[in-house]
Amino acid sequence: MADFPGRFPLTRMRRMRCHDFSRRLMREHRLSTDDLIYPVFVLEGSNRREAVSSMPGVERKSIDLLVQEAEQVARLGIPLIALFPVTPAEAKSEQAEEAYNPNGLAQRAVRALKAAVPELGVMTDVALDPFTSHGQDGLMNAEGYIVNDETVEVLVKQALSHAEAGADIVAPSDMMDGRIRAMREALEQEGHIHTRIMAYSAKYASSFYGPFRDAVGSAGNLGKGNKYSYQMDPANSDEALWEIALDLQEGADMVMVKPGLPYLDIVRRVKDQFKAPTYVYQVSGEYAMLRAAGMNGWIDEQACVLEALLGMKRAGADGILSYFAKDVAQWLRDAALTR
Ligand code: PBG
Repeated sequence: MADFPGRFPLTRMRRMRCHDFSRRLMREHRLSTDDLIYPVFVLEGSNRREAVSSMPGVERKSIDLLVQEAEQVARLGIPLIALFPVTPAEAKSEQAEEAYNPNGLAQRAVRALKAAVPELGVMTDVALDPFTSHGQDGLMNAEGYIVNDETVEVLVKQALSHAEAGADIVAPSDMMDGRIRAMREALEQEGHIHTRIMAYSAKYASSFYGPFRDAVGSAGNLGKGNKYSYQMDPANSDEALWEIALDLQEGADMVMVKPGLPYLDIVRRVKDQFKAPTYVYQVSGEYAMLRAAGMNGWIDEQACVLEALLGMKRAGADGILSYFAKDVAQWLRDAALTR
């Protein structure tokens, strides 16, 4: 009866949430097919496919089958695929010479993809782990330390061989110091002025990479080894900004934070500070968790995947590498049709 202040909420936040039309009108972020990058694993041989046991739904494929998949990826409207070769054991060595073989698996796959589906962007991984007998991303000295400057020389050769094969983007994921500048200079020198560099700048020493190492077959080589002397400590965040600043100064066109979900604070800080094209990698372990829970019926997989990717966009990512990319593109398409 008595008129007292506080009887009604001053602002009803729920008013705008009340109907679909007003929820849509105030929606700040949207996931689009243009945001997606699809990572793929390529095998030797023809008409070959292998399941990756720790990543149900993901397969390693020979080049011919990969080309067919790439046509589908392009039709779905996904702008870019990221290529990861599965190197046969006999091609691995201490010095990782196979990394820059002009007729290596990655180089041949790039040529086949660009010939068959020229409109689809192709990005290659620049790092030595698929090619070293010890599974590390660089060359190892007698003490077991991964040597920086000697590794950079090999990485430059690898990046050039990818550019020569027609890669649109080279993506150094090795975390050696000074590699972006060395690669950029070599690419310019050789006339590859339009080859973009997506630097895995803030790449953490994460346990979420486990299933990927199974997929490319480097897990067995790496054994109990770790990558702590070059990948970043998950405890750090200022250090990520420093890494990003260096890579941009050295000539990176795009920068990446990896993994995704546990590192979205880093994505936000990077985007706020540098305003550069910023990407995030929803890595193999993140895929495996969502997939496993989805397959068991413990979560609604589609809803949880879309929510995780939207969170990455909200954190400031301009694009997302995701093993779910094809599913997401299809879901977005279906949703647009039923609207
Ligand atoms: C190798 C590389 C890794 C990933 C991408 N490039 C693994 C690692 O650093 O050990 C991980 C991707 C994923 O987990 O999905 N340089």
